[in-house]
Amino acid sequence: MDAIAYMDRAAALDDARAYKLRLLDALDVRRRHTVLDVGCGPGTDLLDLAATGAEWVIGIDADPLMVAEARHRTEEYPAVAVHLGDARSLPVSDAMVDRARVDRVLHYVPDPENVFAELRRVLKDDGVVVVAQPDWDTITVDPGDVRTNRAVREFVCDHVVTNATVGRRVARLAEDAGFTVDLRITTPVLRDFATADDILGLGRNAERAVRAGQLDADEAAEWLRTLAAGRFLATFMLFTAVLRPGSR
Ligand SMILES: C[S@@+](CC[C@H](N)C(=O)[O-])C[C@H]1O[C@@H](n2cnc3c(N)ncnc32)[C@H](O)[C@@H]1O
Repeated sequence: MDAIAYMDRAAALDDARAYKLRLLDALDVRRRHTVLDVGCGPGTDLLDLAATGAEWVIGIDADPLMVAEARHRTEEYPAVAVHLGDARSLPVSDAMVDRARVDRVLHYVPDPENVFAELRRVLKDDGVVVVAQPDWDTITVDPGDVRTNRAVREFVCDHVVTNATVGRRVARLAEDAGFTVDLRITTPVLRDFATADDILGLGRNAERAVRAGQLDADEAAEWLRTLAAGRFLATFMLFTAVLRPGSR
């Protein structure tokens, strides 16, 4: 799968646009600000951040392909710089950043406490961080056999996603790192099977589970047939949080 095209499709969904706008609003970026987008992907949100008039917008991503694409998309924006780097050891000086965002990155990270420690290190004392993180162990679909849904979800959490349940830990991890947390949980809804299949990987992951011997091939095929047949719903918990430095 083309990872860049996938990220663009995910970001274009109505629910995604809505939470991204809400978090951009919560960031309250001002002209003199330095803004960091940790795990910026192909530059999904860098242009919106640049449009705020911030003095500097810095995108950081661990994948060279994402960095190259993000640089390409922002080459006409002198206030935007994109660097290769790890969220757990940010290539940024202490207390240099006014605003930061971390959008659907933490599930790639086995030790997310180090991301929050880094965010606190680079953030000014009056800074703001916004985080968005789905919890992969909450993916629910209808119709279809509930046990198969559960088996696919379990396989995804155990074998596909590095840190599937980090969404529910965001508030605690942030507080441990010295932030106060304004947490909100929403439940995006997808009513179109083809879109949910693409974004949540229902078919891809069922196939993987079959190949790994964790799911019967006929059960998987029947599950997917039922899901694709008529009225459909998929949902999951999306944790978003606005963080501010507080007392430890
Ligand atoms: C699902 S994409 C989200 C991209 C973008 N934030 C968005 O909302 O569209 C996750 C991104 O995080 C990056 N990533 C994963 N682990 C990372 C790490 N340890 N440090 C920095 N970036 C990381 C991936 O390369 C990928 O581009």
